[in-house]
Amino acid sequence: MTITNFEIAIEKVNKNMLFQGQTLEVLQDIDLSIKNQEIVSIIGPSGCGKSTLLNIIAGLDNPDAGAISFQGFNQEERLGSVSYMQQKDLLFPWRTVLENISLSLEIKGISKKDSVEICRKYLSEFQLDKFEKNLPHTLSGGMRQRVAFLRTLLTDSEILLLDEPFGALDALTRRNLYVWFMKLLENNPRTVVLVTHDVEEAIFLSDRIILLSQRPGKVQLTEEVSFERPRTHDIIAHPDFVSLKLRLLDRLNEGGDE
Ligand SMILES: Nc1ncnc2c1ncn2[C@@H]1O[C@H](COP(=O)(O)OP(=O)(O)OP(=O)(O)O)[C@@H](O)[C@H]1O
Ligand SMILES: [Mg+2]
Repeated sequence: MTITNFEIAIEKVNKNMLFQGQTLEVLQDIDLSIKNQEIVSIIGPSGCGKSTLLNIIAGLDNPDAGAISFQGFNQEERLGSVSYMQQKDLLFPWRTVLENISLSLEIKGISKKDSVEICRKYLSEFQLDKFEKNLPHTLSGGMRQRVAFLRTLLTDSEILLLDEPFGALDALTRRNLYVWFMKLLENNPRTVVLVTHDVEEAIFLSDRIILLSQRPGKVQLTEEVSFERPRTHDIIAHPDFVSLKLRLLDRLNEGGDE
């Protein structure tokens, strides 16, 4: 057990997967320490192991070698310590939009009546208020994603793991949500690990960006993002923003298929 000030420490993590009888090396020597209340984005080519890494941090999977610790304590049992929005939304098909979201509050012991009231406020901010009684299969991909995102945010966990939470949204909705999410984190800071394909999104939201190489995913590049918070849309035209974006896109292209 090592004592550190890091909220999440990932030490020398390796992960292999069996695929059609062959062993695939998915993650190699991942060393990554994430500070309390830091927002870290992970980018990298498709298939490089980003979701696998989040699964491992969440405790849905274990590394073949290496260790994960939270607040310096080795975490064999990590499930339940994080709030995880997986790439594939896992809404309960038999619960309505409102019931899917309010579940996060009911689990905390908040009464059903109060949960519903709190959720309704968010539903209107997310333009989902007309759909509160809908079952998930009757929603568009972007709506389902917003429901899953809200459900993840309404938990009490200090750590949020988000796997492409804005992937199915149009550009305008996405940008509005970035600003909304940032404001939420200003008022209620949490440690966030965000996987995204979108370099602009990574720069806009993060304190630090980690670029993984093609599979086996290794940490290829780490970039600090120093723009002050709260950030507004206009920073995307800032010369430092543009040059960081070009640098990251260049490295992504060197690394493979993006
Ligand atoms: N359960 C599994 N069994 C076997 N192989 C798997 C399993 N899950 C993932 N893989 C393989 O591991 C590699 C990494 O997958 P992963 O889903 O972590 O990639 P990713 O970086 O999240 O990709 P994307 O950007 O497309 O979401 C891929 O080659 C994938 O085929
Ligand atoms: Mg993935």
